[in-house]
Amino acid sequence: MLEDPGIVLSDLFGQPFTVAFLGAVLAHDFDTHRHLLNVGMLSVRVAATAGLSHAGIVKLGQAGLFHDVGKLHIRASLLNARHELSEGEWRILRAHAIRGEQMLNIRGARPIAAIVRSHHERLDGSGYPDGLRGLAISWETRLLSVVDAYDCMRSGRPYAAAISHDKAIARLDTARTRYDPEAVAVLIAALGAERVRREAVEPLS
Ligand SMILES: [Fe+2]
Repeated sequence: MLEDPGIVLSDLFGQPFTVAFLGAVLAHDFDTHRHLLNVGMLSVRVAATAGLSHAGIVKLGQAGLFHDVGKLHIRASLLNARHELSEGEWRILRAHAIRGEQMLNIRGARPIAAIVRSHHERLDGSGYPDGLRGLAISWETRLLSVVDAYDCMRSGRPYAAAISHDKAIARLDTARTRYDPEAVAVLIAALGAERVRREAVEPLS
């Protein structure tokens, strides 16, 4: 599928609700919109590297594109807050996972709704909203969680500066109780392939 990304792209953006959701997110909060596009595109590459089928690649890509769509229900000032959040504010923020699942309970989106609900679950059970552990979290969700965390670290958050690729991978690697090491290995392979390809067509001057 990497050889013909146009086919995946048309599948990825071809659903009638795609433009509406992404447009609404863009109008609400630019950084969330950018994050969704980053995670959606990287999820396609990671899914292909993991050997998923065409349908699996499209599904993970769409889950990446919409994983934070529930943040439409959270005011932008809280999404971009730089102060230490109160427990109540954290509760509002965490609700985006379930809100997203609910928003995606529509024709064409239901296959990705469960992944969106679970994208903040962690292997050791410390995640939310259900505190799932280990293999109770689907392989697709474990892949998405790693891509999500990687983009957050690379792009930075209101409360944390962006860090380098090497530092982000090192952090994921040392968080093995929370992030699936196999999923991290797939991410590294996907990004490595991308780097090699770029260097092949864009030699450094
Ligand atoms: Fe999220």
